[in-house]
Amino acid sequence: MSNKYLEVTNLKKSFGGIKAVDVESLNLNRNELTSIIGPNGAGKTTFFDLISGFQDSDEGKVYLNNKNISKSQPYAIARLGMIRTFQLTKVFDRMTVLENMMFSASTVNNDSFLKSLAKLPSQKTTEKKIRDKSFEIMKELNIDHMANSYAREMSGGQKKLLELGRSIINNPSVLLLDEPLAGVNPKLAEEILQIILNLAGKGISILMVEHNIEAVMKISERVIVLAEGKVIADSTPENIRTDQKVIEAYLGSENE
Ligand SMILES: Nc1ncnc2c1ncn2[C@@H]1O[C@H](COP(=O)(O)OP(=O)(O)OP(=O)(O)O)[C@@H](O)[C@H]1O
Ligand SMILES: [Mg+2]
Repeated sequence: MSNKYLEVTNLKKSFGGIKAVDVESLNLNRNELTSIIGPNGAGKTTFFDLISGFQDSDEGKVYLNNKNISKSQPYAIARLGMIRTFQLTKVFDRMTVLENMMFSASTVNNDSFLKSLAKLPSQKTTEKKIRDKSFEIMKELNIDHMANSYAREMSGGQKKLLELGRSIINNPSVLLLDEPLAGVNPKLAEEILQIILNLAGKGISILMVEHNIEAVMKISERVIVLAEGKVIADSTPENIRTDQKVIEAYLGSENE
């Protein structure tokens, strides 16, 4: 398999007169922890929406593992192993934490998830397998003590963890994380960063949108900077820190 998992060409999306996304070319490499940064309104979430099928692009192509997914629906893309989280978490407040986990597993059911179940001891029912897998992940995320609490009882940070758990249970090969640290207290943010590093260590390709620049610089191998829909820089964290175009993009947005 090619080293690239995602190949994007000429991807565009406008809202009225605003070019939200205008990306000429972007390739993402397997096992390279990559972050996207950029000022508010730069097009980061819209970019995620386009590559994960939650919005249709105006033009352009997206390939996931050499498969054209430009017109694919979100569920189809999730089944191919690319799963996203949302800037505003989409956990079900009126379900318990465990139910949230189990519900996600039953809705995606991609091939690799079924294969991972097949590896578990036989004669258990599928539901029992999903329950066990849910607990295994909740333990990893340190939310297992809340299994039977309603999701609405969780703090914002814990909801971020639950949303991450709901993604992981579907055995993604690619995880798109939209601001996994937003609104999270510093201690939990450290924990989430460690979890992200562990997932990357397990071979999951991670693309993260995040405003916490220190966190981004700490864990990313590659940083892509979006401004007004365009990629204005794409390099190592060290180079990005001192890139004049990047500094100007951020200063410009602060002056507005
Ligand atoms: N559904 C929509 N309708 C109209 N305009 C939109 C819509 N979604 C996004 N936009 C506009 O597109 C641009 C990019 O928005 P987007 O949410 O992708 O930015 P972002 O980089 O994720 O910002 P933030 O860091 O604040 O989350 C903004 O100008 C935004 O106002
Ligand atoms: Mg956003």
